[in-house]
Amino acid sequence: MKGVYLNKIGNYLDQEVEIRGWLYNKRSSGRILFLLIRDGTAVIQGVVFKNDVTPEVFEAARSLTQESSLIVRGIPKEEKRAPGGYELSVTDLEIVQIAAEYPITPKEHGVEYLMNHRHLWLRSSKQRAVMLIRNEIIKASREFYDDRDFVLIDAPILTPAAVEGTTTLFETDYFDEKAYLSQSGQLYMEAAIMAFGKVYCFGPTFRAEKSKTRRHLMEFWMIEPEVAFIDMDENMELQEEYVTYIVQRVLENRAEELQVLERDLDKLENIRPPFPRISYDRAIEILRDKGAATEWGQDFGGADETIIANEFDRPVFVHRYPTEIKAFYMKPDPLRPEVVLGSDLLAPEGYGEIIGGGERISDPEFLLERIRRHSLPEENYAWYLDLRKYGTVPHSGFGMGLERAVAWICGLPHLRETIPFPRLINRIYP
Ligand code: 4AD
Ligand code: MG
Repeated sequence: MKGVYLNKIGNYLDQEVEIRGWLYNKRSSGRILFLLIRDGTAVIQGVVFKNDVTPEVFEAARSLTQESSLIVRGIPKEEKRAPGGYELSVTDLEIVQIAAEYPITPKEHGVEYLMNHRHLWLRSSKQRAVMLIRNEIIKASREFYDDRDFVLIDAPILTPAAVEGTTTLFETDYFDEKAYLSQSGQLYMEAAIMAFGKVYCFGPTFRAEKSKTRRHLMEFWMIEPEVAFIDMDENMELQEEYVTYIVQRVLENRAEELQVLERDLDKLENIRPPFPRISYDRAIEILRDKGAATEWGQDFGGADETIIANEFDRPVFVHRYPTEIKAFYMKPDPLRPEVVLGSDLLAPEGYGEIIGGGERISDPEFLLERIRRHSLPEENYAWYLDLRKYGTVPHSGFGMGLERAVAWICGLPHLRETIPFPRLINRIYP
């Protein structure tokens, strides 16, 4: 008999099928055993009647422990009251393995304990919901850019040069040379747009963030589109369209998972363009009005971002940050060179920055000056300067941190549950 997957069980009503999976939970009521079985796609309640199966099968079912692996055969029928909406009348059961005492039980466990058991914790319904929403965001992102004729260009992970400052670099030895794990694929996307016009990359990025916060991972995934001949305003338009698209896709396709996470849907349904746009200057005024001590010229901390974002019911762009606190490649505003034509997108409900981006410097001499001013090793940026020598054009792009977007859309307070195996300041296990 061929195995079927539980998410397709509705196609096999009243036929004998084989399900292969794990025991989620078990209840007994005298001569009946209720087995909650999951196979990775869904769960089903299996019912074993003592009178309908051999004594061996009943005994095997009775002996199952939580997370035991098994193959069951039975006849599915609709049952509105059962989890998932179907019930399986079990006719036969084969044990693959009786699982040892499972460390994660329905009782409450501490976060450190769960993180130490992350490899098992992933099986829990809440963690599954988060990963399915993450998967939906990735699928929606690829479709969004593919549909708009962006070309996916993979950026290297081992790189000779910093993108986002030298203090968070993970350094490694590269045959007697120094190499760094990529902080961002951006510089390579800038090369690629000169060949393809519109590109994006999606890959892991690395930052040795020395402080412990709920918004930082050492290893995270970033989606980075880059487009030739667009300015900061067009770049923000692309962002609001994109963010709206992924939110709507999750609402359409992952309603069940959002419900498992008890997400407040009103807050997400609201996400539509246009997103409000305020200058850094205005953001400083908001902070001052709310009694925060942050002064012009300082970068925003998580608390500042929350105060600013709380003024709005959808994500808000903050643009024209001080040139001094932003990366070397950002183009200063020609009318006011003390600020750059860059923007951050701050998510509502206290989630803070989910996107950073802006217009890049396109003038070769000025870019070289900035590289020197940031004390970056010129020789490693020669290729990047070349891009400004052979047909330079105005261009812009941005990077969305996938885990920040997942945390916001799922309504999770900490990034550690947004990635299958988080790398945190004090954790590289499992
Ligand atoms: O603002 P960032 O540093 O911008 C860049 O890396 C640009 N080079 C992107 C570009 O223009 N192509 O990072 C972009 C986003 C942030 O807004 C945040 O969502 C996420 O990446 N991010 C992190 N996410 C998790 N953990 C960290 N340590 C992160 N650092 C940045
Ligand atoms: Mg940033």
